[in-house]
Amino acid sequence: MNKKVVLAGGTGFIGSYFHHQFQNQGYEVKVISRKPNHISWSDRKAIIEALDGAELLINLAGKSVNCRYNEKNRNEIMNSRTSTTTILGESILACSEPPELWLNSSTATIYRHAEDRPMTEEQGEIGTGFSVDVAKAWEESFFSFQLPKTRQAALRIAIVLGKDGGVMTPYQNLVRFGLGGVQGSGRQKFSWIHVKDLFRIIMFLKERKDLSGVFNCSAPQPVSNSELMNCLRRIMKMPVGLPAPKWMLEIGSIVIRTETELVLKSRWVLPERLQREGFRFTYNKIDDCLTHILKK
Ligand SMILES: NC(=O)c1ccc[n+]([C@@H]2O[C@H](COP(=O)([O-])OP(=O)(O)OC[C@H]3O[C@@H](n4cnc5c(N)ncnc54)[C@H](OP(=O)(O)O)[C@@H]3O)[C@@H](O)[C@H]2O)c1
Repeated sequence: MNKKVVLAGGTGFIGSYFHHQFQNQGYEVKVISRKPNHISWSDRKAIIEALDGAELLINLAGKSVNCRYNEKNRNEIMNSRTSTTTILGESILACSEPPELWLNSSTATIYRHAEDRPMTEEQGEIGTGFSVDVAKAWEESFFSFQLPKTRQAALRIAIVLGKDGGVMTPYQNLVRFGLGGVQGSGRQKFSWIHVKDLFRIIMFLKERKDLSGVFNCSAPQPVSNSELMNCLRRIMKMPVGLPAPKWMLEIGSIVIRTETELVLKSRWVLPERLQREGFRFTYNKIDDCLTHILKK
């Protein structure tokens, strides 16, 4: 019988990459989505059938946080994460042969704004505010399930860098139009991970049956916003880059319907647990990561 993986929220930036990788490795891939031609969130029977006999379930579902945090969007950002997680947990409980492993996406944003020291799984401090509340509720709904046959891990994912999507397009556009200077003070940390390493973490956790709980998924060498923008300008051969001070970002973010928190929060996160357990990153340095992604 074919190996099977279920990707919930598998049509987006990370999910599409994973889909392709799993297919290359001979997996049958089942996708749960709001879009047609996939398993629908409202079809509980089909979800249970997909999960039955699957090797693993990866949940990536969630409304994009790249929007204004008005009440409607806040509710959708929260519910699209907690309710999908609950549906999946309940469906696993109804399986006769549940998946061995359930990986649920979480976010490195769960930690506080940190300019003083890095946040690890053990020594990190959880922050405050809307995005942190979402992350906490997401992990709470995930770990509220006690699943006798299914190992669970929550992935606190840093900003994912890859060729087709995510934050690369907006950053590249800023640089191209000469606006790729620092954002805000430029001192805020940018924790990142190459999408390829994120997939390698999934495969690592699949093999390591002794591991469960919370994992920071971020490259071991975070950079400052200023280092990030410098590196982008160098690789894209753009000598000038106008800075965007905080007040300008506040205005701009209203115009383009987003929140400044996405670029101004200092996310300083280290993958302490993964490294201690022997995971080795392919992309440790932002230069290598961006050179690979921006290569034609
Ligand atoms: N990319 C990053 O840098 C990053 C960093 C940390 C954490 N994460 C988390 O990782 C997950 C995947 O990220 P991504 O970059 O691949 O995001 P994405 O491209 O926006 O994809 C998100 C997926 O969630 C589903 N979705 C959107 N709104 C939904 C709703 N209201 N109800 C149910 N499903 C909904 C979409 O599926 P359908 O439209 O097919 O239903 C889509 O496939 C997200 O939960 C995100 O918060 C991402």
